[in-house]
Amino acid sequence: ATKQRTRYVCTECGATSPKWQGQCPGCHAWNTLEETVAAPAVAGGHRFAPLASSTPVQRLADIETREQPRLSTGIPEFDRVLGGGLVAGAVVLIGGDPGIGKSTLLLQALAAMSQQQRVLYVTGEESGDQVALRARRLELQTAEVRLLAEIRLDAIQAALTDMAPGERPVVAVIDSIQTLYSQELTSAPGSVAQVRECAAQLTRLAKQTGVAIVMIGHVTKEGALAGPRVLEHIVDTVLYFEGDAHSSFRLVRAFKNRFGAVNELGVFAMTDRGLRGVPNPSALFLSQQQEEVPGSCVMATQEGTRPLLVEIQALVDDAHGNNPRRLTVGLESNRLAMLLAVLHRHGGIATHDQDVFVNAVGGVRITEPAADLPVLLAIMSSLRNRSLPRGLIAFGEVGLTGEIRPAPRGQERLREAAKLGFGTALIPKANAPRQPIEGLEVWAVDRLDAALERLRA
Ligand code: TYD
Ligand code: MG
Repeated sequence: ATKQRTRYVCTECGATSPKWQGQCPGCHAWNTLEETVAAPAVAGGHRFAPLASSTPVQRLADIETREQPRLSTGIPEFDRVLGGGLVAGAVVLIGGDPGIGKSTLLLQALAAMSQQQRVLYVTGEESGDQVALRARRLELQTAEVRLLAEIRLDAIQAALTDMAPGERPVVAVIDSIQTLYSQELTSAPGSVAQVRECAAQLTRLAKQTGVAIVMIGHVTKEGALAGPRVLEHIVDTVLYFEGDAHSSFRLVRAFKNRFGAVNELGVFAMTDRGLRGVPNPSALFLSQQQEEVPGSCVMATQEGTRPLLVEIQALVDDAHGNNPRRLTVGLESNRLAMLLAVLHRHGGIATHDQDVFVNAVGGVRITEPAADLPVLLAIMSSLRNRSLPRGLIAFGEVGLTGEIRPAPRGQERLREAAKLGFGTALIPKANAPRQPIEGLEVWAVDRLDAALERLRA
C-alpha cells in the first residue's frame, strides 16, 4: 500500500508521473524526475505542518524579541561555531569526509551534555556495542546517554513523539542521515529523495517537539555528497568538518547559521582521547620553520570572529610543455589564474612559462580575497628565490586594475600579528591603523606595483 503513495515529480516543470521515466512526460527534459511522497490522507493533520507556529498578522514592533536560550554542548569550540550553543528545536547538519571525526565529536558532546540533560544518540552506522566501545576507548562518561540503534524514520519519530514531554531528550543526534529511510519512498537509503524526505520530517519533528536535532552527513572529497547538500536550505545550521587527512587538526566551520555568524571556526586537535579544543589557534597554521625561506608568506586572515595567521607557500618552477600548471591547495584556483594575470599586467612579471603551485599550510581553507596579496608575495618570493623579510605578515585583496583593496577587521588582524611577534605588516592603505600598534611597522600600499617596490627596497 505504501508504494502507491509514491510518485515522480519533474524538477524542471513540476509534471508528475506515477512511475519513473528517463524523460519527463511534460517538458521532455531528461533525468529530471525525482521520487516524492504523495500527501497521505492524515486524519486531522497536515503533512506539511508549518515550521513556525501560525499567528495572525502582527506588527514586527509588537513581537517580543528575546535571545534564544543556548544549550551548551560542553565543548567550547563547538559552542563557538554554533553561535553560542544549541537552540531548542534547531536542526543542525554537520557534514564531512568519512573518518574525519564527526561521530567522535558528537559522542563527546552528548557525553558532556548528559551530565545535566537527557540526550539521545540514534545510530544507524554502528551497533550499540560499537558505540559503547568507542565511548570506553575515549573514556567518556556516557552512562546517561540514551542510545537508539535504528534506521527506520517512523520508528525514530515514534520514539521521540511517544515520550512524555518531560522524558524527551533536549538533543538527538542522528548518525547518519544517509542511513535513514522512510517507508513512504521506494528508493534506497542514502538516495537524494530519502535523505531529503527524512531530513524534512525530522525538521518538522524538531519544531514540534523542541528537541534540537543534529544530523550527521557524509560528504565526499569532491563535494558530491549524495544528499546533504540538498538539505542546506532545510536546516537551520550547516557545519562542515575540514582538515587534511595527514594533519591532526580539525576545523569545524559554520556555512549557514540562523542563530549565529557564518564562517565561525572551531579548531580541534585529534588525540587518542578524542577531539580536544584549541582555544588559541592563530599560530597553528604556520609551518615551524626557523629560517626564512623563499616562497613563503604569512597571511593574517579572519575566520568568523577570530583572526588566524596562516602560512601561504608557493612554488614557481620552469614548466615543461605548453600548458603550465596552476595548482592550489586550500585556496581558490580560479583566483590564482586571475592573480597571475594581474601580476603580469600590473607588475610586469610573466609566469606563462612557469608552473605555479600554491598551498595554505595545515589543511586550512581560505576563501576570502584578502589572501590575494600574500599569495602574490609568496609567488614573487619563489620566482626570485628570495625570502620575504623576517617577521612579515600581509593581507589585502588585489583588484583587476592592480589596486589593493582593504579587508574587513584589519585592526584585529594587525593586533593578532603583533601579539605573535610579527614586526612588519604589508597591508592595504585603507587598513592602515590610525594609532600605531606597538612593535609593528606598517607598510600601507594602495597598488600592487607599490607593494612589489616596497619589497625591492
Ligand atoms: P569518526 O568520529 O568515526 O569519524 P566519522 O564519524 O566522521 O566517520 O573517527 C574516525 C576514527 O578516528 C575513529 O576510529 C576514531 C578515530 N579518532 C581518534 O582516535 N581521535 C580523534 O580525536 C578523532 C576525531 C577520531
Ligand atoms: Mg561516523
